[in-house]
Amino acid sequence: MSFYTLKLRSDDVVEMIDQRKLPLETIYVELKNYKEVYNAIKDMIVRGAPAIGVSAAFGLYLGAKALSEAAEIRDYESFKRDFFKICDFMFSARPTAVNLGWAVNRIKKIVESGSEDVAGIRSIVKRIRSEALKIYDEDIEINKNMGHYGAGLLKDGYRVLTHCNAGALATAGYGTALGVIRAAVEENKKISVISDETRPFLQGARLTVWELMQDNIPVTLIADNSAGLLMKKGKVDAVIVGADRIASNGDVANKIGTYQVAVLAKENNIPFYVAAPLSTIDLNIDSGDAIPIEERDPDEVVCVFGKRIAPVNALALNYAFDITPNKYISAIITENGVLYPSYKKYIAEAFGKR
Ligand code: MRU
Repeated sequence: MSFYTLKLRSDDVVEMIDQRKLPLETIYVELKNYKEVYNAIKDMIVRGAPAIGVSAAFGLYLGAKALSEAAEIRDYESFKRDFFKICDFMFSARPTAVNLGWAVNRIKKIVESGSEDVAGIRSIVKRIRSEALKIYDEDIEINKNMGHYGAGLLKDGYRVLTHCNAGALATAGYGTALGVIRAAVEENKKISVISDETRPFLQGARLTVWELMQDNIPVTLIADNSAGLLMKKGKVDAVIVGADRIASNGDVANKIGTYQVAVLAKENNIPFYVAAPLSTIDLNIDSGDAIPIEERDPDEVVCVFGKRIAPVNALALNYAFDITPNKYISAIITENGVLYPSYKKYIAEAFGKR
């Protein structure tokens, strides 16, 4: 791959590609403390549920390291108390993607289980570093497994519509929805992609199209409002998207606009697949109604690349995600296999519960 989404360098600097600037500029930013990582998540320098989770883990490591070096930390309890404050702060960066909280809790557990003296704090910090790197490596591995299972659903010659960017840029690498497409292409299937532009942040136009072009995977950009016509004309064989959070009944939160694509797919008898790691499933949430939906600055809607396209003082709404009810979802592709309805039953089984 000719680019990377993010990495933790050996000198403990987090480096990430600035996704606000793509595709016109390929710039990598350097983040040296947890506040900079928090801002990168909030301002969407990095975005996509799994990539946010990995970034948070790296950010927490930077926070833990700085705390361990601070003179005022005199005992493990004060380290723990201050570190948990950093965890809460990181958790608040974006509300919808469950992977953020999942990664924060995974790192938190290391500190929770410790009972070291001051000297022992350094070894805890080392363990946090290893855990954050493990989350990164696992994410790529998980995406490849997901790709393997999902590729079986895509036939040679399929034209696959996707919404937003659920690719390498949204993960540590390889991607979820685009990972499935990559895997099918690696199996020598001729797959072409139709990418929704994905207003207002334009993840489809700017990121998905750029990412697929880097890999020479054929991709055609459409305006968000074209999907229905293309489906009706028989030009779409399958839809595949990622997810930010999946409730235990299989309702899916994903980028705003996903819901209408799913309804259109059902109306036109086109399979609608969701590719997501098990860490995106929130067993604490019974249905999509309980998933928090992020509302962002209306300026993202009234302006494009900083240029106003609506009248001054125009009111605008900017919900960043919507909920697709489980009845529209043909299958959920995970790293452990493909789940079909009834999702409540099969999701519980996937987590070893009945
Ligand atoms: O606001 P974003 O760009 O973070 O939203 C991203 C999405 O909605 C993705 O589809 C989702 O996170 C899955 S990424 C593998």
